[in-house]
Amino acid sequence: MKRLAGKTALITGSARGIGLKFAEAYIREGAKVVIADIDINRAENAASDIGDAAIAVQMDVTDQASIDAAVTSVEERLGGIDILINNAALFTAAPIVEIERADYDKVFAVNVTGTLFTLQAVAKSMIARGKGGKIINMASQAGRRGEALVAVYCATKAAVISLTQSAGLDLIKHGINVNAIAPGVVDGEHWDGVDAFFAKYENKAPGQKKKEVGEAVPFGRMGTAEDLTGMAIFLASPEADYIVAQTYNVDGGNWMS
Ligand SMILES: NC(=O)c1ccc[n+]([C@@H]2O[C@H](COP(=O)([O-])OP(=O)(O)OC[C@H]3O[C@@H](n4cnc5c(N)ncnc54)[C@H](O)[C@@H]3O)[C@@H](O)[C@H]2O)c1
Repeated sequence: MKRLAGKTALITGSARGIGLKFAEAYIREGAKVVIADIDINRAENAASDIGDAAIAVQMDVTDQASIDAAVTSVEERLGGIDILINNAALFTAAPIVEIERADYDKVFAVNVTGTLFTLQAVAKSMIARGKGGKIINMASQAGRRGEALVAVYCATKAAVISLTQSAGLDLIKHGINVNAIAPGVVDGEHWDGVDAFFAKYENKAPGQKKKEVGEAVPFGRMGTAEDLTGMAIFLASPEADYIVAQTYNVDGGNWMS
């Protein structure tokens, strides 16, 4: 039996990477998916590649009007939202003495403010509809401890874990489960960017950091987006009804807590 049959999922930042794999996995489980991304061209191409079960919506999670318009549009077109994945995020890295306020503000605006106010808008919609729902926030192993060159991104992901706890506790009375996934190192365009930061700050050859982090994973390699889809389906399904305010590591054994 398909585990998400009849459900509608809105996934932010799903025009590429992990979010796109989540969209494909949810559709295989019978859901309809809204590919909500700031990059509307890529979102539309992704939706048309996937087929009828996906629609693309332009959404900038840093802009309240854009969040509200996207939620209203999904309510009108698909009748409401059952599942939200707060997946859109930016990465940045710099030594503490080189962190720039503008870069800090930009990354916090997407990863933290965007996560909270997208969650809020969708929670309001779910509460008004009265059918409960599932909200999954994308945290990271970076939210479990600081890293010398990654202070800002780590702090945003620690904030996502904390928001997951508070929102989880507040919203369960409405039948809305809020939980999070903390991936480790997942290969893809995001990590190409991470690798470039480390090439700059640790004088590594391109690709070297990726090789090192992959070899350091207890499982023996970097993760793939597909490695995360089982947890994303489970947390969106009725099997997870009794799970509240948790963050699950899906990281090949990198972190234990
Ligand atoms: N890749 C990893 O190793 C890794 C590890 C841990 C956690 N994560 C988390 O998983 C999630 C997905 O990561 P990914 O590797 O697929 O990232 P990615 O960079 O490949 O994709 C991010 C997507 O977010 C979109 N986006 C950026 N700003 C936006 C905005 N303001 N509004 C809407 N959309 C916006 C981008 O257009 C892009 O499609 C992120 O939350 C990331 O922090 C990733």
